[in-house]
Amino acid sequence: MTIDRGKTAGNAGGNGGGQVAAKRPDKVTLKVYRFDPDLDKEARIEVYDIPWTDGMTVLDTLFWVLERVDGTLAFRFSCREGICGACALFINGSYRLACETQVARLLDEGRTEIHVMPLPHLPVIKDLVVDMARFWANYESIAPWIVARSKAPEKERLQSPKDRKRIDEYVGCILCGSCFSACPASWTDKDYLGPNAMMKTWRWVDDTRDAAKDERLGLVAGENGAWRCHTVFNCVEACPKKVNQAAAIQGLKRKTVSAMLRGAKGLKQGRKGLEE
Ligand code: SF4
Ligand code: FES
Repeated sequence: MTIDRGKTAGNAGGNGGGQVAAKRPDKVTLKVYRFDPDLDKEARIEVYDIPWTDGMTVLDTLFWVLERVDGTLAFRFSCREGICGACALFINGSYRLACETQVARLLDEGRTEIHVMPLPHLPVIKDLVVDMARFWANYESIAPWIVARSKAPEKERLQSPKDRKRIDEYVGCILCGSCFSACPASWTDKDYLGPNAMMKTWRWVDDTRDAAKDERLGLVAGENGAWRCHTVFNCVEACPKKVNQAAAIQGLKRKTVSAMLRGAKGLKQGRKGLEE
């Protein structure tokens, strides 16, 4: 679709059709966080003037800089269509996927500049690339795969559409790390599992095919699990896929209490219980 630049917001701008927008400039000012630990003592912001074209995303502007101005600019990407989660960044003060964020939309939000920062509260490796090691370690620690203890069927383990729908939202997480970056409890408690790992635990607890529900609840029942969550909803606000991690954590709290009341043995088995 071609947008008549400067006349209407159009769909690519995300403001709804027919709305009259302010005239868009021919160039946008891109302000990008730069830091190379091998060369720089301190981080700095570099400014680039970019001629924007219809359909250009923030990820495209980073490529524009990489290909025309500075080949050392570091950022992550893979799918370029909102599926892999690699390009999550802090753009104009919000968590967004760079590949899904249209420059036109930012201009129509009244911004004349685009500020691109790495995910906050995570160690910066270089420029916009952050260290996600703790995020991935937490995710791995909850055994994010099905634990099925019945004899394997000839084909796949089936699930009704109704049961699948219960976990749709959580399966839709693309592991971008935005919720983890936005969570105050994760900033202050390095052992806290964080919203993503707990939401993914709920994804399996609520999956009718999984047979290790009590063991999974045991992993989040300790002081670094669900009870550490202060329900501030930063995670929900940050999520580009509209996953409600807070609701999942509430579900874990409810199920954990009822497992405790019935004296579920699985609660005490730890990660080992998920591998038997
Ligand atoms: S729940 Fe949302 S914010 Fe968190 S990792 Fe998944 S997609 Fe990203
Ligand atoms: S590059 Fe995959 S989500 Fe943006």
